Amino acid sequence: MSTNIDTLENWERTHDCGSLSANNAGTEVLLMGWVNGRRDLGSLIFIDLRDRGGITQIVFDPKVSVVTHEKAHVLRNEWVIAIKGKVSPRLKGQENPKMPTGDIEVFVTDLKILNRTEVPPFQVDGAVDASETLRLKYRYLELRRPRLFENFRKRHQVVSSIRECLNRNGFLEVETPFLTKSTPEGARDYLVPSRVNKGTFYALPQSPQLFKQILMVAGFDRYYQVARCFRDEDLRADRQPEFTQIDLEMSFTGEEGVMAIFEEMMKDLFKTVLGKEIAIPIPRMEYTEAMDRFGCDRPDMRFGMELKDISGIAARSDFNVFRQALETGGCVKAIKVENAAADFSRKILDELSRFVSDLGAKGLAWIKITDNEWQSPIAKFFNQENISGLNKIMDARPGDLLLIVADKIKVANQALGMLRLEVAKRLGIIEKDALSFLWVTRFPLLEYDENEGRLQAVHHPFTAPLIEDLHLLKDSPEKVRARAYDLVLNGVEIGGGSVRIHDMSLQDEIFKILGITREAADRKFGFFLEALKYGAPPHAGMAIGLDRLVAIMVGAESLREVIAFPKTSSASCLMSDAPSIVEESQLKELGIGLLSE
Ligand code: AMO
Ligand code: AMP
Repeated sequence: MSTNIDTLENWERTHDCGSLSANNAGTEVLLMGWVNGRRDLGSLIFIDLRDRGGITQIVFDPKVSVVTHEKAHVLRNEWVIAIKGKVSPRLKGQENPKMPTGDIEVFVTDLKILNRTEVPPFQVDGAVDASETLRLKYRYLELRRPRLFENFRKRHQVVSSIRECLNRNGFLEVETPFLTKSTPEGARDYLVPSRVNKGTFYALPQSPQLFKQILMVAGFDRYYQVARCFRDEDLRADRQPEFTQIDLEMSFTGEEGVMAIFEEMMKDLFKTVLGKEIAIPIPRMEYTEAMDRFGCDRPDMRFGMELKDISGIAARSDFNVFRQALETGGCVKAIKVENAAADFSRKILDELSRFVSDLGAKGLAWIKITDNEWQSPIAKFFNQENISGLNKIMDARPGDLLLIVADKIKVANQALGMLRLEVAKRLGIIEKDALSFLWVTRFPLLEYDENEGRLQAVHHPFTAPLIEDLHLLKDSPEKVRARAYDLVLNGVEIGGGSVRIHDMSLQDEIFKILGITREAADRKFGFFLEALKYGAPPHAGMAIGLDRLVAIMVGAESLREVIAFPKTSSASCLMSDAPSIVEESQLKELGIGLLSE
């Protein structure tokens, strides 16, 4: 067979394309990589040679080798080549301070063409960008981009650092099954039909929750896993159908033990991967306080603009909208945007008003504080005393803008919580490099599900209630707080966990309150309940969303930038074309028939 490409033979690289500097001047080197760009000046040919280490400028000069220079004319972007050459300092004034290898170039003595390429569907160097659809279809070309590759180098460093921390602390890495029974994380399951047991299905795990708890019953004491989880839910920038957790479980300890390990892990990995110091212990805030002050359970603490309850003063105003909201059990809350009165035009205020109504709030009232009065459509409803009172609560000064929502507590919190973020984004006041960690603790154990018309577990039904709240379990179950905790970074929930119930009688009581019969519980997770009967130790655990964590660390807008082969928002892989139709014979073998539309 004849081929028009060269063979490697015994050529081996001496360096990668990112490692040469002026210190290597005079050295003979052997580099391999892809042609990132070329300038053929006729007499001299300059090529930017790229591999995962970086880019080196190489030069074909007929004065060095006529044959090699001649051969280099045909090179095109993304061809794969190997070169031998000599490192030379660039001429004065020709250095490129933007490139780590910008002080040198390599004069090529010998060239091998290792592969050619079809014309790529888009430029790898990103000079002209393509649609995301095209980039995902040819993901391997996009992954050649140094910026993207760097995300994966960091992701690898993060996982290594985490493994080191957990290994040092006596944790055992254990794998749990993918082909399993449905777990109780609350999303829809991905199902896998069984051929051997027709009509039955495995569920891909939404998390290793039950298995890791069973490992505690088994006496493994400290478990972790870099675990793939599968959830069939509506996708967003921060949600993928399959994602990775750093999943952990510990025996003979509670929230303090788990939080201490994750704090050590975070401190370690931010230091080793980003060179950043984070202060531990990480501050904590109870769920109710987070909701009151920030309107959400994962507050972004990089800026203030906290929600204030102004119901007292609103009740004394003549504004019917406020009074009605209060009379029907709602609240009136406000945020203060410092020094923004002049910048927020009528048009912007209308946009913000639409923003909150899209979130279900009935309206947005605004007040611009001027030197001695309020400029506001609702000013006429407030007497001087109430104006002064409200200014005082909000600590409002001339130039400030107040934004107010009157509604049901849940709606007002959500609307103002999101509005706070939206306004901060518009003003550009969020410091990009800041790291703001927070534990949110003591979530409600149960919440009323309006659709189902019954109580549901907020976390999962194996989460332990706070001992001091146990007496509320019968009569006011919604008031019971859970021994659950979330780790929040810059307003993103990066992890969550809880102390688990290890006492079967308490577990039974919780099932009763949730309206889960013993039979239903047995059908769903009988194997797990059975295990709990055989000497389950007290245990607690947590899982971090690795993709979310890495995305924040590298400043990625979407999880797609930190997952090598991500799915689109319709859960498909554009590169492999999954999911796809399968052969009729495969379905038959599984005993499955498709319903026609
Ligand atoms: P939870 O369901 O809170 O807890 O998940 C833990 C963390 O996983 C991340 N995460 C996701 N990341 C990307 N795409 C998704 N679709 C997605 N869903 C969740 C989040 C979240 O904080 N078994 C429990 C943990 C425990 O109690 O130990 C669990 O899975 O960052
Ligand atoms: P109106 O008197 O209905 O024109 O309302 C006066 C102002 O109050 C407008 O700016 C409305 O957007 C605002 N508003 C209406 N309902 C609410 C509400 N539930 N909370 C806060 N502001 C509201």
